[in-house]
Amino acid sequence: MRKKVAIVGAGNVGATLALFVTNSGLADVVLFDIVEGMPQGKALDILQNTAVLGVRANIFGTNNLDDLAGADIIVITAGLARKPGMRRKDLLMANADIVGGIVKRLTPQCPDAIYIVVTNPMDVMAYLTLMISSVSRQKVLGMGGILDSSRFKTFISMETGASPRDIETLVLGGHGLYMVPLVRFTTVKGIPLSKWLSKEKIEALVTRTREGGAEIVSLLKTGSAYYAPAQSTFEMIKAILLDEKRVLPCSVYLEGEYGVEDVFNGVPVILGKQGLEKIIEIELTDDERKAFENSTNEVKDMIKILREEGKI
Ligand code: LAC
Repeated sequence: MRKKVAIVGAGNVGATLALFVTNSGLADVVLFDIVEGMPQGKALDILQNTAVLGVRANIFGTNNLDDLAGADIIVITAGLARKPGMRRKDLLMANADIVGGIVKRLTPQCPDAIYIVVTNPMDVMAYLTLMISSVSRQKVLGMGGILDSSRFKTFISMETGASPRDIETLVLGGHGLYMVPLVRFTTVKGIPLSKWLSKEKIEALVTRTREGGAEIVSLLKTGSAYYAPAQSTFEMIKAILLDEKRVLPCSVYLEGEYGVEDVFNGVPVILGKQGLEKIIEIELTDDERKAFENSTNEVKDMIKILREEGKI
């Protein structure tokens, strides 16, 4: 039987992701949004695109969450996006209501689904999804690390002239200002980044990566990035559908790994058909550990607010 990928939110990220999944032919897609006609229209357009490509795939748009029943993967993109000057955490309350409501509705109808959370502040929304759904932690993943790594790789490529294909890197931590690009594990064709660029230059690229989302928000003015976020989410979907056992940085629920617990944060994991199949723990230096803790504290502070407001 063909797998079913449900995408909640047919805005820029959701619709672009729907295009990528449908074009791949790997699964059928249901695209949901509350705006009448919009997911239906985008789905029909994407379906007609498959005829151009000659791909056999199904996609349909809906305003009814019941149509998502039985989904194998649920991607949550619904919610408000940032406007210039806003931090991801400014979206906390509004998006907690949206994401919480959706997960409550969907969990009974999709008992086997793996959730991929994209809505910001992503690490907190992933936590909320796990708490509300009560599924195992294997089945709730946040998308952030792949995107942040891709931004770091892009800037390194622009600076060194080397293809991003030959760049390996790892960004740990939450998808926020305190993300932790690990320069120590960044190489261009196996050659450490420090052999390619000066310390100052690398620092500047790390800062630009941390601000990578905000840079695009300030250019677009009416929303945030969506091509690279959608492609990053598609990488996760592919790893799950094809049981690829990819090693990718994802936000997952930590139960003591990296010295923290009861929080979502970005770490390298193995992704396969079970979702989160293994958390890979690497030894951090004191500075890296401190940076990682700062990042988890930012997420924990927001979780605390949600608890105080009775959202969890
Ligand atoms: C970004 C948003 C999607 O980083 O969080 O662009």
